[in-house]
Amino acid sequence: MKHLIDIHDLSVQEIDEMIAVAGDIIDNPEKYNEKCKNKKLATLFYEPSTRTRLSFEAAMYELGGNVLGFSEATSSSVAKGESVSDTIRTVGAYADIIAMRHPKEGAPVAAIRRAEVPLINAGDGGHNHPTQTLTDLLTISREKGRLNNLTIGLCGDLKFGRTVHSLINAMSRYEGIRFVLIAPEELRIPSYVRENVLDRKGIEYVETTDLEGSMPELDILYMTRVQKERFFNEEDYMRLKDSYILTPDKLENAKEDLSILHPLPRVNEISVAVDDDPRAAYFRQVKYGKFIRMALILKLLEVK
Ligand code: NCD
Repeated sequence: MKHLIDIHDLSVQEIDEMIAVAGDIIDNPEKYNEKCKNKKLATLFYEPSTRTRLSFEAAMYELGGNVLGFSEATSSSVAKGESVSDTIRTVGAYADIIAMRHPKEGAPVAAIRRAEVPLINAGDGGHNHPTQTLTDLLTISREKGRLNNLTIGLCGDLKFGRTVHSLINAMSRYEGIRFVLIAPEELRIPSYVRENVLDRKGIEYVETTDLEGSMPELDILYMTRVQKERFFNEEDYMRLKDSYILTPDKLENAKEDLSILHPLPRVNEISVAVDDDPRAAYFRQVKYGKFIRMALILKLLEVK
């Protein structure tokens, strides 16, 4: 049985296949609307979510399946002190596949020990978020027509941003990738990502605080929210929250075919005035999130 805890649980070939399936779903949705008939997806969200949970649910409905679960741990037996592993084992008796988001790094690893159905990590603390990465990969592939030979700027909270960690892991397996890591000193990429992924694999990268100066060389600009919920004190958050605000004038020196991505939710880091720029891809990215999750559910349930 296959789970998706870390993006490396999928090979590059499997990801390429899923991107192709998502493309076929976009072109021929009617072919897929009974593929998961009589199957159930459970969404267990111990942390807030809009896009991830609802796109999973929409994905399962569009495959003809059903959905159960909770969007607040306080409404489940978690509030009585049940362990994640017992909850997952229980839910496996009712559902065919589970998507779980948890505030603790590594919670999904503990959860799969007794899991009887495939488990998908829908975000674990400041650690990983592999299904957002699949969404990002589908978006890059549709917007740019390739996943190699790209200069990717990652901007904002690179320390706590789990989508950034998973995306670096995923993109570091493609040829000709260069990263420009744009963050305030205190929110730089964690050393375990720098050393274990970038340095170990010999990936080209620069670290800088300068967004505008980096702009001309970027093919992708991946903006992120400063992750308020992971801060130890309000003061630090207040000081750092508006470190980067993308406005139309900052895009003056950007490439004409730049793609601007953001996992969303956005707070202040992209001005709404940027939304009408054709290079703003973040609301298209939202739509791709549903299609790639449909492809993922089909894969993990081994539906042909
Ligand atoms: C991201 C997350 O939850 O990590 N959101 C998402 O799933 N689309 C990014 C964020 O919350 O900033």
